[in-house]
Parts: sequence; C-alpha cells; structure tokens
Amino acid sequence: MAGLVPAIHVFLSSTIASKTWMPATSAGMTVVQRPLPAAGRRQYASAMADQTEQPLPTAADVDTAAARLRGVALRTPLISSPVLDALTGGRVFLKAETLQRTGSFKFRGAYNKLSAIAPGERGGGVVAFSSGNHAQGVAAAAKLLAMPAVIVMPADAPRPKRDRTAELGAEVVLYDRAREDREAIARGLADERHAVLVPPYDDPLIIAGQGTAGREIVEDLAALGLKPDLVIVNASGGGLTAGVALAVKARVPSAQVVTAEPAGFDDHARSFASGRRERNDAITGTICDALMAQSPGRITFEINRALVGAGVSASDAEVGRAVAFAFRELKLVVEPGGAVGLAALVAGKIDVRGKVVVAVLSGGNVDPELFSRLVA
Ligand SMILES: Cc1ncc(COP(=O)(O)O)c(C=O)c1O
Repeated sequence: MAGLVPAIHVFLSSTIASKTWMPATSAGMTVVQRPLPAAGRRQYASAMADQTEQPLPTAADVDTAAARLRGVALRTPLISSPVLDALTGGRVFLKAETLQRTGSFKFRGAYNKLSAIAPGERGGGVVAFSSGNHAQGVAAAAKLLAMPAVIVMPADAPRPKRDRTAELGAEVVLYDRAREDREAIARGLADERHAVLVPPYDDPLIIAGQGTAGREIVEDLAALGLKPDLVIVNASGGGLTAGVALAVKARVPSAQVVTAEPAGFDDHARSFASGRRERNDAITGTICDALMAQSPGRITFEINRALVGAGVSASDAEVGRAVAFAFRELKLVVEPGGAVGLAALVAGKIDVRGKVVVAVLSGGNVDPELFSRLVA
C-alpha cells in the first residue's frame, strides 16, 4: 500500500519570510518551507475580486458538461428510504454524491473545467484552493488528463482530505485560514508556474459541471414518473446550487431550489433576504468544514438570487444527527457539510408533506474520528 502513496510535499505558506527551501518533517509528511510571492499575504486584495465580467452559464452549458463527463464521472444513484418518507411525510430522494469519484460532487466541475483547457495550454498545469473536496476533484481530474496540479489547502483541513489529495498526485500547499488569503496564494502560484487557476465555485465551467448532478436528478425522477417539487442543496460558495438550479429549473420551472447552510454560516440565506452578498462573521467554528466560504460567489449569486432565493440552516447538533441517521438508516457515510440539507429534513425544518423532495448528499469525506463520535 505504501508504494501507492507518493511523497507528500507540503509548502508552508505561513513561512513567507524564509528565503531558502528547508526540508523538515511533520506528522509523517515531508514539509518544504519556501518563500511565497508577497501576494500570498492576507492584506492583498482578493484575487477573485477583480475578475473580469464573465458570461453567466446556462442550462445548455450543463448539457455540454454532461457530454464531457459521460463515462468519466459516475452517475450517482437517487436513494429513497421508507424511514425518511415516514419521518417527513414527503417522498424524499437523496442524490448520493458521496459515491461520486473522490467522494463528492466536486469532480464534476473540476473535470469539466480542466478538460476544456486547450491541450496546448495544459503544460503549466493547474492551481486550486480548497478545504478538501475541490482539492480532490481537481487532483483527480488533473491526473486523468495528465496535468500537474498544485492545491492550496488550510492547515486545519481534515487529514484524510489532505492525504487523499496528495495521494492523487497533487502538490499540497498549506496556509493559515485565519491569517492568509488562499486566493492570493493560489493566484501567485499560478502566475509563477504559468498554470491555470481553477476556482472552487465562481467559474462558468465549474458551475456547469456541478449542474450535471441536477440534470441527473430530473432525468432519474422522470424515469420514475416524478418531478421534483423541492431540491435542497448544501451551499458554500454556491456553485453546486447554481449548477443544480440551472439544470432543474430549465426542465421543471415549478421546482423550488433552496440552499442548506450551517448555522452561523448562512450567508446565502441572509443574502437572499437582503438582495446583496452578505458575509459571515465567523471563519471557523462549524463541523461542516466544507461549507465555510465567507460569502456567496459573484457569478453564483447572480444565478442563485434569480433561480433560488431561499435557504435553510442547521446547527452542528442537527447535522450530527443527520450524519448518524444516514449511517444507521441508509448505510451511507456522509460528511457534515454533505448532510446539512438532510439535517434540515430530519429536524423537521422544512414542511415537505406530500412533496417530491431531493436533498443532495454532496460529500462523504469525513474525518474518521469525527465520524465515529457523531455516529456513536
Ligand atoms: C461536501 C460539500 N458540499 C457542498 C459544498 C458547497 O459547494 P459550493 O461551494 O459550490 O456551494 C462543498 C464545497 O466545498 C462541499 O465540499
């Protein structure tokens, strides 16, 4: 097994002052300290803030993404459970993206984005920033397309997510979530290496790729003679929500799509209410490590405020109960950030009586220790 795991080179971005490469060891990883471009510091303006206007993706772009992903991404099942139906009074389906390649929906957007890069521009590889699932999606897509990948991850990202990203052949660069700007670090690395920056959500190709999950939801329900009344999507930057909303609303305009967010990180719900992109006060402090983006994306919010417009939230305790429910009743391993929509259903926060409801189980890459505590 050890032979399958490549050496992990972690660049500690917090050691900006260092002028030389200094190999060291930490918790089984090879740590290489190196200077990063000054742009890696938090005081620099967000690298995404000055992005030029991009055309909004459409449902047709989701169709194009589906063609690119055919035979590469898995078509994940829609799972139903009599227990869940009895509990909620609705006809509930769970889109099990926990079973997608790399354990989350993120592979969809990553592969769509990377495969659209012209072969002549692939040499410099890709750079991404992510708390874990986008990291693995990009690393897996890059590996399939034989492109080098560098991933900027928070130093407190769950260990399995860091390890799996490195095992997929990516270089992992750690940063301090509280002090540093991951977008600026990634931008600096991309410039340095002539690599393509792969944003986690605010990108038309990423959004279109994530939307293929929504397309499958509608198609698979149609095969059962059903249409969704409500689709609940776990949201961080809003890319999955935007893609799913584009695909679902184009086919079933009457369907409602809502975001699900951790309590205290409900920037989408608050932004829908105020009409502008609100920020979360906290940057850490939820078990949903995947859902801590500080505010909705610019492109994603353009789409979501038009097509979504409402959100629910769930506390860590409610999310923990949903993770345990999925394990006990459905035999599914779901990470906290992948279980917020399910949590809202299980906690009775949404009235779904008599409705056809889909909650996206968006990821399953949970830290084993946390998982065992939640299901105990
Ligand atoms: C498991 C999981 N669910 C949902 C999301 C939210 O995705 P988005 O940032 O596109 O809203 C993420 C993002 O990392 C995730 O990892």
